Amino acid sequence: MKNLCVVGLQWGDEGKGKIVDALAEGFDIVARYQGGSNAGHTVVIDGKKFVLHLVPSGILRESLLCIIGNGVVVDPPLLLKEIEELRAKGVKVGKNLLLSDRAHVVFPYHKQQDILQENDSARAKIGTTGRGIGPCYTDKSARCGIRICDMLDRATFKEKLQANVKFKNRLFAALYKNTTALSFEDMYREYAELAEQLRPYVADTVQLLNEAEAAGKKILFEGAQGALLDVDFGTYPYISSSNAGTGGAACGTGMPPKSIGRIIGIMKAYCTRVGEGPFPSELTDALGERLRQQGGEFGATTGRPRRCGWFDAVAVRHTAALCGVDSITMTKLDVLSGLESVKAAVAYRIDGKEVRNFPANTGALQGCEIVYESFPGWTEDISKARKFDELPQNARRFVIALEKLIKIPIECISVGNSREATIRR
Ligand code: GDP
Ligand code: IMO
Ligand code: MG
Repeated sequence: MKNLCVVGLQWGDEGKGKIVDALAEGFDIVARYQGGSNAGHTVVIDGKKFVLHLVPSGILRESLLCIIGNGVVVDPPLLLKEIEELRAKGVKVGKNLLLSDRAHVVFPYHKQQDILQENDSARAKIGTTGRGIGPCYTDKSARCGIRICDMLDRATFKEKLQANVKFKNRLFAALYKNTTALSFEDMYREYAELAEQLRPYVADTVQLLNEAEAAGKKILFEGAQGALLDVDFGTYPYISSSNAGTGGAACGTGMPPKSIGRIIGIMKAYCTRVGEGPFPSELTDALGERLRQQGGEFGATTGRPRRCGWFDAVAVRHTAALCGVDSITMTKLDVLSGLESVKAAVAYRIDGKEVRNFPANTGALQGCEIVYESFPGWTEDISKARKFDELPQNARRFVIALEKLIKIPIECISVGNSREATIRR
């Protein structure tokens, strides 16, 4: 199969950006299929750091066509700002970037709703990025969303936006005190102008992708977030509101599932999570702090400190299976250097019973005991290793042990943030 999908297997921030950039070289098109500006994908090239939020990580390779698929929710001012920032850093952004006419648009009322809901004591606090992602996907399903194609048609846009602003103002006033009503006129003026700035990028990317595939072009599907944040399979309700797993690649691009091709799952050698929700193997002690400092575990989008913990094989077995992963890339193994021993969660103990499958019940996860397997650590700096046998024996043993626990080959290991710091087995 010539196409490839890159998917995160944990709670996001696994290093998808680095790996998509590294793999993109052999492809014609990189298509982002879900999420929005909640994502932060970091790529480091020759010491220069790029953080992509809405633009696919393939943009850093000039010859590629990058597509923001219909499954992505697009925040117009943020997308235009991201394009400008990339250009200021010398990255070519023009005809090599296309935006689906079917993608839904994030409006200021989505962000307002996100924040109001987060602060509402009657609802579970999710710890969202505050980027309006959940409310935008909610409106998409509720059939009152506004798509890029709607925004480009003045009359349709005016009618839909007016109805939405009126409805949201009524809703917020009824439910929450002290909310300032949003002005339809101001928003329409601003977003009608933004629509014109976006127009050159807009295309029927569904047709384009299907034609490209028929013409033999190679497509790389880029996922955002991670499968544990997937709306169907993640730690519900502490999830993001899209299908971050490979299931999202088909409906988020308009390519049939059989075109997805090979699937590479990305996982860190440990776990992190941003925001609220269960994290069975979390380390809330000095060791967790050490991982955070050593791994630079601070959000690429919000700057929040990421919660850190041991690798969780129960969780990754679940996500790797539901994503149909063929091969795994393990990142940030270098961050574990210097620890006396390293651990992996191999089972949970819930109500006295040992559980090896990831439970649907978030409450059960919250209070569960962990069965760990311990492995001897290594002290060497491994960031210069480029071959598997250049790794210390204990690091190799850890990789092989995780491979056995997940039952999927770990074919690539990342030992640093640069393009070169990668070991292929
Ligand atoms: P993404 O959202 O999955 O693309 O991941 P992020 O970019 O949010 O977070 C991953 C962070 O780890 C970024 O700062 C990367 O530059 C960095 N990174 C990626 N791979 C490695 C690695 O193997 N070792 C180290 N030390 N850093 C890495
Ligand atoms: P990348 O693509 C890590 C988390 C938020 C919050 C939850 C819901 O960089 O891996 P949302 O704003 O999406 O409604 O927040 O999901 N979250 C992420 N965590 N990496 C991400 O993206 C994330 N995108 C959302 O912290 O817990
Ligand atoms: Mg990230």
